[in-house]
This record gives sequence, structure tokens and C-alpha cells, in this order.
Amino acid sequence: MRKIIIAIDGFSSCGKSTMAKDLAKKLHYRYIDSGAMYRAVTFYFMSNNLDYTNREIVLIELPKIHIEFNLNTESKNSDTYLNGENVEEKIRGMNVSMHVSNVSTIKEVRQAMVALQKKMSKSKAIVMDGRDIGTAVFPDAELKIFMTANPEIRAQRRYKELQAKGEDVTMDEVKQNLAERDHIDSTRKESPLQQADDAIVLDNSHFSKEQQMDFVYNLVMEKKLMEDIQVNQLRFSDEQHDLV
Ligand code: DC
Repeated sequence: MRKIIIAIDGFSSCGKSTMAKDLAKKLHYRYIDSGAMYRAVTFYFMSNNLDYTNREIVLIELPKIHIEFNLNTESKNSDTYLNGENVEEKIRGMNVSMHVSNVSTIKEVRQAMVALQKKMSKSKAIVMDGRDIGTAVFPDAELKIFMTANPEIRAQRRYKELQAKGEDVTMDEVKQNLAERDHIDSTRKESPLQQADDAIVLDNSHFSKEQQMDFVYNLVMEKKLMEDIQVNQLRFSDEQHDLV
């Protein structure tokens, strides 16, 4: 079967990464967490005490930022590396979450990340999640999914996740952070969070992990089958043409 690109976009904390990661494993595809890239850039500015609101500083610093993903042999997931350092854990905290949406509005940051995302995906067989994957990064992706969930449920999930990591945070802070990020992500000028016209909406508020995977896996199989049929039809019509 042909390999395809799967673009998964949606609001913060609606389980995109977990789903995308599981799907990639099941399909033996590569998974790329584009949010981790914006988080790594944010972490770079914060840990070096750099003012990301100053355009000159951004232009000087951006070329010094090198992001890559390397396989973690223990967890079998790919970890985010910033200039050679594994920052997978450090970029997930509330501190980075509070600034990442603002950093993501910077035009030059977006251009650099989108270029890198396109480069990382030269061969197909990829699942990438984010906010603008189906609209700006891969507008021609064969399968686009737009994920959403009830804001209350998303906040509860995120709160549990942070608690498990031992972060001292209240439910109200989590709710406020999610609402702010949704607002900034959806209203920014440069490739905002938007549902692509040809995306399939997945509201997972009341889905179990298994139900969600079944739903998405069936979509992938349908798409792959359609791709195969189309290629065969093209081949067949070319052959007919040659016979004339
Ligand atoms: O998926 P996440 O919550 O880890 O993403 C962190 C932030 O990065 C999110 O608030 C918006 C930004 N982001 C983006 O602007 N474009 C993407 N493709 C992915 C994430």
C-alpha cells in the first residue's frame, strides 16, 4: 500500500500527541511533534534570558537553534534535542507553556520551523501533529484530522498530566493557560490554528483511547485504499492510451 502523510491539528491538550504517536507506531510511520519544536525554541529563549519580543534578538539567535528528534531506546519514543541536549522533559513544564504561544506568533520562528518540518518529511510515511500542519505545512496531506474536545475535559486531562509530573499548579491556572493559548493560536496573523476545509473532525470528549484509535485507523486504511485505486486507475488509463 502507498505511504501517506497524516496531518493532525487541533486545540491544546486534546490528546493529539498521544494519538499521533500511537498511530505512527501502529503504522510503522515516523512521528513528528511540531509543538515540541516551538517549545524548544521557547525554552532556548527562556533559559538564555533572551527577550523574544525583540526582533533583532530573534534574528540573531534563530540560526543558533538546532532542533532534532532522536529515538529514546527505553521509551521507544523520539525525544526532542536542542543544540545536542535532550530537552524532552524540560519543554513540557508550565513555564514553557506560558510563553510558547507568544513565541509561536513570531513570523521568523514560524518560517524556520515550517521549513524544518517540511525537510524532516522528505519521504512520506509520516504522522505530524500541530496547529497548521494540514493548512500550512502539508496542505496536500492525504489525510487531515482536526481534533477537538470539550474545554473542561481538556483542562482536567492537562491538570492530571502536570500533577503526575509533580508540578505545583492549580486547576484554574491550567484552564486559564489553555484558554489563552487557544485564543493566541487561533487569532495570530501567521498561519493560525484553523480547520482545513478537507479535514475530518474528531471530537474525542467521550471517546476511549481504543475507540479513537479504531476511528482514525479505519480512516487511514480507507485513504490508503483510495490512493491505491487512484494510482491503479491512472496506470490502467495510461495502458489503454498506449494501446490506441
Ligand atoms: O502541541 P503543544 O501544546 O505542545 O504546542 C505548543 C504550542 O506551540 C502551542 O500553544 C502553539 C504552538 N504550535 C504552533 O503554533 N504550531 C504548531 N504546528 C504546533 C504548535
